[in-house]
Amino acid sequence: TADTSCDILFFGALGDLTQRKLLPALYQLERAGLLHADTRILGLARGSEPAESLTQSEASLRRFVKESEIEEAPLRTFLGRLQFLNFDFGASEGYRDLKALLDEQPGRNRIFYYSTAASIYGMISENLDAAGCIDERSRVVLEKPIGHSLESSHEVNAAVARHYDEAQIYRIDHYLGKETVQNLIALRFANNLFGNQWNQNHISHVEITVAEKVGIEGRWGYFDKYGQLRDMVQNHLLQLLCLVAMDPPSDLSADAIRDEKVKVLKALRPITDDIRDTHVIRGQYAAGEIDGKPVPGYLEEPDANVSSDTESFVAIKAEIRNWRWAGVPFYMRTGKRMPEKLSQITIHFRQQPHYIFDPEQRKLAENRLTIKLQPDEGISLQIVTKDQGLDKGMQLRSAPLQLSFSQAFEMTRVPDAYERLLLEVIQGNQYLFVRRDEIEHAWTWCDQILANWKAGGAPLPYPAGSWGPDASDAMLTADGRHWHEQE
Ligand code: BG6
Repeated sequence: TADTSCDILFFGALGDLTQRKLLPALYQLERAGLLHADTRILGLARGSEPAESLTQSEASLRRFVKESEIEEAPLRTFLGRLQFLNFDFGASEGYRDLKALLDEQPGRNRIFYYSTAASIYGMISENLDAAGCIDERSRVVLEKPIGHSLESSHEVNAAVARHYDEAQIYRIDHYLGKETVQNLIALRFANNLFGNQWNQNHISHVEITVAEKVGIEGRWGYFDKYGQLRDMVQNHLLQLLCLVAMDPPSDLSADAIRDEKVKVLKALRPITDDIRDTHVIRGQYAAGEIDGKPVPGYLEEPDANVSSDTESFVAIKAEIRNWRWAGVPFYMRTGKRMPEKLSQITIHFRQQPHYIFDPEQRKLAENRLTIKLQPDEGISLQIVTKDQGLDKGMQLRSAPLQLSFSQAFEMTRVPDAYERLLLEVIQGNQYLFVRRDEIEHAWTWCDQILANWKAGGAPLPYPAGSWGPDASDAMLTADGRHWHEQE
């Protein structure tokens, strides 16, 4: 088994992500006994005294970990591992001190977690390397967004690649750490039932919905520069699409899986000018209601630039040009300020070639497989049965076969994606991380959509609390279909 003794270093240790997600995730690994006894955790933050940083981090743990999951003994052990350094990322002296600190415990894995702006990933790498901190047992974790276009992501990747090999680089897409997303691999490749049906002969179309209830949450400055396409589609939705659509990898190794994902990205039909109106809908939320309470529109949020045309909603009809998926649209949509938080993938199977029941009921006879990422993680398969009762004759009824992960496996808690991902980095497994060519192919596809938008038009308004602009529904109606939740 892998040697998991390590030093984990967080650059940007007082930032929102580290405090809200990363430290709580590591604490959970501690609680589960999954951290090697020697593990050290070093937080690097600028302009804060180490003692204050530690107090702040303890407060964050108590705030962001559920009260019932705070256990004093592991919490104490965890805090005992945690040290902070007041650290200037741009100054070389700090890195020399860091090297001395790392050398106190030689021969272990070093995990450098960059939780800062991607624009300084290159600089941090260069300084670490110059001080001799990077060795063959070092790994680096890169947070998204890695750039905002193919060109800028290329620059960031190239700057990091000067100091690390690709096998040392772990690019995070936290959707890959979600339990149900990994379950998709099990479902597809461990069940002959699905394995054999997973193609255009049997599947008519696929839907991927990632809906959020939240709006911009005080992140206008960041979000407005990115928008929903860069923030969600380029990474999370395309990763989900790849996992649904990829060919079976020959084994579970990182590169076997990632090679298959890249093939899907390369086969995506480019969204050229002539199909942009029929294949892509972008929206921006206007004032509306969430849970019966009024909420402001995107342009009325604090700090908003009133003339922004950044999208908070995107719906895309993606097509994959290969033998497996010819003629099977993948409808994807994602938006802020939707009526509920819901992430799910729905696979619609084709109807039987010959139908012998009441023609009125024909629409019922469709199998649908729904993979729910959140909330209520689980899988449900809609099947057709006969309605019960002497008076019913051969009347059909559609009902779900349901597998709820929390009920079936008596799981008291579903681990957060970051717990899984940090554990994989510690163990040195890259299969849940994104390879450089994946990111770059995903950007190539998205860049074309962005270029089309730049050429003209504005996002369509939709009221907060709705499922997006009417045009998103119309895109499916044009194909004789509709989004699944709105049945
Ligand atoms: C992040 C985006 O990557 O994912 C956020 O930057 C978004 O805008 C978040 O809210 C959604 O993640 P989850 O796990 O809550 O679905």
